[in-house]
Amino acid sequence: MQQPSASATVIVGTQFGDEGKGKLVDFLSSKFDVVVRYQGGANAGHTICFDNKTVVLHLIPSGIFNEGCTCVIGNGVVIDPNALLDEIRQVEELGYDVKGRLFISHNAHLIMPYHKLLDSLHESAQNKKKIGTTGRGIGPSYEDKFARKGIRVVDLLHPEILEEKLRSNLEAKNKLIRNIYGSEEIDIDTMVRQYSEFDEIINPYVTNTQLLLHKMLRKGKTVLLEGAQGCLLDVDHGTYPYVTSSNPTAGGASTGSGIAPNYIGNVIGVVKAYMTRVGNGAFPTELNDETGEKLGTIGNEFGATTGRKRRCGWLDLVALRYSLIVNGVTEIALTKLDVLDSFSEICVCTYYTLDGKKITDFPTDDQTLSRVTPVYKPLKGWNASNAAARSFDDLHTETKAFISFLEEELDVPVTFISVGPGRDETVFR
Ligand code: GTP
Repeated sequence: MQQPSASATVIVGTQFGDEGKGKLVDFLSSKFDVVVRYQGGANAGHTICFDNKTVVLHLIPSGIFNEGCTCVIGNGVVIDPNALLDEIRQVEELGYDVKGRLFISHNAHLIMPYHKLLDSLHESAQNKKKIGTTGRGIGPSYEDKFARKGIRVVDLLHPEILEEKLRSNLEAKNKLIRNIYGSEEIDIDTMVRQYSEFDEIINPYVTNTQLLLHKMLRKGKTVLLEGAQGCLLDVDHGTYPYVTSSNPTAGGASTGSGIAPNYIGNVIGVVKAYMTRVGNGAFPTELNDETGEKLGTIGNEFGATTGRKRRCGWLDLVALRYSLIVNGVTEIALTKLDVLDSFSEICVCTYYTLDGKKITDFPTDDQTLSRVTPVYKPLKGWNASNAAARSFDDLHTETKAFISFLEEELDVPVTFISVGPGRDETVFR
């Protein structure tokens, strides 16, 4: 049997998200014919800086700013149609054509106003057990997907079916909203009216993206699959229950796009030079001190979507080794290295201890993970800027030593090094 050419590449976050994937995707999209978002919703925020502009994209793949690139929102994504149309407008206002370049999977599920309301009502009722969701209805939309009650993009094109589904769903949701949370119900007729108006607006973008992607791959086109969040937030492989509701890991790229796994030849793992985490959940290398504050301030560690302050800590190689295995990472993109520029000493966690014993395998259950103690290897800082570096040799000696140390410990080459947020502040190897 003839094997497909492995012309798809996946970009995954190897930590708790916010690794700076947006910049890499933006850069690489000029080298790929197609860029696909495969999971998550408008909770992820890819920040792209170019031509003195900063743009945050939540749903549209970052490749939209590269004119020759086709962008696909895959079946694994959950879409709030209002948020998507706002984003399309934002991109068009910047002077980029979207029609004929952006395609939305007819199988992707929708986020409805009741998902958002239930998300925030549920989270507010949790007290100490809050997951730290963004309140954008993403979790509840995935719940409906797996309960086989979801409303999909294709339903927007069939107003009668849409109305029937909306009425039956909203009747059940309103009972919850009223009886469990004591909140005001959502008006069914208003919602039916609003959502019946989407068909003509969204129709030009909707297609069977699984088939579209397959045809493009068969024609020899190259595809970049863009993950949101990170491995440690994966609903199956992350630090459950403090996770997202989808699969950011490389396997999710296949299910969330319909691209068969044997088309995927390369997996780029994005590693931030330190760790951050938003919301609750165990975080062994978290620094609740001045160093953590310093990392957060220099790294501007505030959510692109919610503005929430991120928890910060040193790089954790136990977590990373796990992440590289689960994703089959073939090369590492190291980001935000410049944030470490003013540290005279940089620590890297090489293993944990638990009840006096050495642990090198990452425990994914929150109870165990919250009990481990990180053990650090201190490395000499470079105390200088690498912003002008464009090749590995341009980097300071201690920076090169830091990168070589990571490569030795992780046994995966670092091929992309980001020394600042700008497009050009990058070193390739
Ligand atoms: P999620 O998909 O939500 O996890 O986000 P992401 O991984 O795409 O992260 P995002 O693109 O939002 O990047 C986080 C922030 O880091 C943005 O403000 C970027 O501009 C910034 N950034 C990216 N690379 C670098 C870098 O090398 N140095 C600095 N200082 N900032 C960077």
